Amino acid sequence: MLQSYEVIFENNKKWVESKVSQDPEFFKELSKTQNPDFLYIGCSDSRATAEEIMGAKPGEVFVLRNIANVVNTLDMSSAAVIQYAVEHLKVKHIIVCGHYNCGGVKAAMTPQDLGLLNPWLRNIRDVYRLHQVELDTIEDEEKRYDRLVELNVQEQCINVIKMACVQERYILEEYPVVHGWVFDLRTGKIIDLEIDFEKTLKDIQKIYNLTDSDWVMSRKKK
Ligand code: CO
Repeated sequence: MLQSYEVIFENNKKWVESKVSQDPEFFKELSKTQNPDFLYIGCSDSRATAEEIMGAKPGEVFVLRNIANVVNTLDMSSAAVIQYAVEHLKVKHIIVCGHYNCGGVKAAMTPQDLGLLNPWLRNIRDVYRLHQVELDTIEDEEKRYDRLVELNVQEQCINVIKMACVQERYILEEYPVVHGWVFDLRTGKIIDLEIDFEKTLKDIQKIYNLTDSDWVMSRKKK
């Protein structure tokens, strides 16, 4: 009887065989370079996989996952991933994808001490505070929880748009565009929250404008 981790090696062997049988050059091509169009920022939840729900193949999606798909200005991991994806990989789309039944969001809705998780979950508690008026009018607890998942995605999209590298690249190339999605575990469907990227960028620029568009455009001409 194989141990659970040993099954993975068996699966891997089968996967390699199937890839090579479809295309003998598959791994030769894969090892050359990566050129993904998408950066996917999602939750670490084992059910909310990135590539599988998107039907994406290796090489197509650059991925960052953490508890409750948070983009925090002090988190070096998300800052580095976004900067690399935007400046070096030149991704066309940045997707923040939350999911209903998110344990991180649920924990943030519960006012209790969760030790080391407190500073992380505070990012989501802050989203609750920002939208408290709307959320507190929703009496049904499950619906309120669903709505906080959506609002958390929206706020994390705004956190991506606040970044100088995103603003600068967008002025230069009209890319990357930021999208907010929710994966519904109950149906398997991805829901597009249809965040208006242009409008959001304009709305926040009064406070968070980090790029001088004239300067960026003058660099482009050189
Ligand atoms: Co989650």
